[in-house]
Amino acid sequence: MDAPLLLTRDPLLLDEVARLAAAAGARPHATDDVAGALRAWSTAPVVLVGVDLAPQLARLGPDRRGQVHVVALDDVGPAGLRTALELGAESVLAVGAAPGRLTEVLTDLGEGRASPGRTIAVVGGSGGAGATTVACALGQVAAATGTSLVVDLDPLGPGADRVLGLERAAGVRWGSVAETTGRLSSRALREALPRREALGVLGWAAGRAESLDPGAVREVVSAARRGHDTVVVDLPRVLDATTAEVRARSDLVVVVVSATVPGVTAAARLCDRLVAEAGGEGGLGEAGGVALVVRGRALTASEVTRATGLPVLAVVPEVRRLREWCDLGLGPVHGRRSRLARPMGEVLGAVPAPLRTGATP
Ligand SMILES: Nc1ncnc2c1ncn2[C@@H]1O[C@H](COP(=O)(O)OP(=O)(O)OP(=O)(O)O)[C@@H](O)[C@H]1O
Ligand SMILES: [Mg+2]
Repeated sequence: MDAPLLLTRDPLLLDEVARLAAAAGARPHATDDVAGALRAWSTAPVVLVGVDLAPQLARLGPDRRGQVHVVALDDVGPAGLRTALELGAESVLAVGAAPGRLTEVLTDLGEGRASPGRTIAVVGGSGGAGATTVACALGQVAAATGTSLVVDLDPLGPGADRVLGLERAAGVRWGSVAETTGRLSSRALREALPRREALGVLGWAAGRAESLDPGAVREVVSAARRGHDTVVVDLPRVLDATTAEVRARSDLVVVVVSATVPGVTAAARLCDRLVAEAGGEGGLGEAGGVALVVRGRALTASEVTRATGLPVLAVVPEVRRLREWCDLGLGPVHGRRSRLARPMGEVLGAVPAPLRTGATP
């Protein structure tokens, strides 16, 4: 990996960061030259700004970029937090108090991910529209070209792990994942989840349907994105703080619409709310948006668009033996010639996966 940039004049902080970095297999390029740090600012894979020199750097007004972290031995206090905000830092890492978080940042870097994976949230326009099926099918099709993860956020649904035939696979479920505090390592999460080859699933332990803390969901989705090329979230049909966290962090929100008059009527209501929440941006703007997948052909795509005001990315046909394949643990996309493969490819094509830089699945 390219060396992380470390800007500090504090010898104790320098020692501590260097020690932790070595444990993560990284050797930071350390400097106390603020102007020099500004020159390397845009090219370093991660920038660690010592709290001692952070105010000086902030005064130079560096461009916003990802993977900037303010590092300190202890708590930085309100002034330090303000400086971190000015720098657009992702986090403040108190390496003395919580050394693990810096290790995780650097470990993630070692995985070589240039940018987080694409994230697609799927929600049913009406009950039973086929949202869980679409979420699982997207995960399966995406797994053909990279790592993918289906996150099941609907505690009352059939279970994405069951639909994908992974309900008996070893690995962690929501209960234990949500209890993990602090920044989750993307690698640790990916390796702990039930998976079959490139496809993983985060589901619910049998008999547990607890509500999740929005902060925990944010952490998990963020770690999932850092560790996978594609993350698909199966959302319940509720507009609460937890699902809002996910929608706000998704490149695309897909509403699965049953092509019937009641299905479209219900979906149109949901779409209005989602579009209002996204600041009036329907369709596929540069920052993603809300779009539809239509199940069935009783109404045409243009009729559905007229009723909802949103574009249709794909139409999924009724697949006769779908339930049978899911019962057999094969998932909704059964083989390359599955009738769901092409429509799912059309949805994924609307949100291209970010480039990876040499990561191994
Ligand atoms: N394209 C399809 N062809 C045939 N059957 C389908 C299709 N999509 C979904 N189904 C079936 O319809 C039922 C509901 O599907 P699914 O669970 O995916 O819907 P949902 O929108 O997630 O429902 P819920 O409101 O319970 O979350 C399931 O039995 C599923 O197998
Ligand atoms: Mg569902």
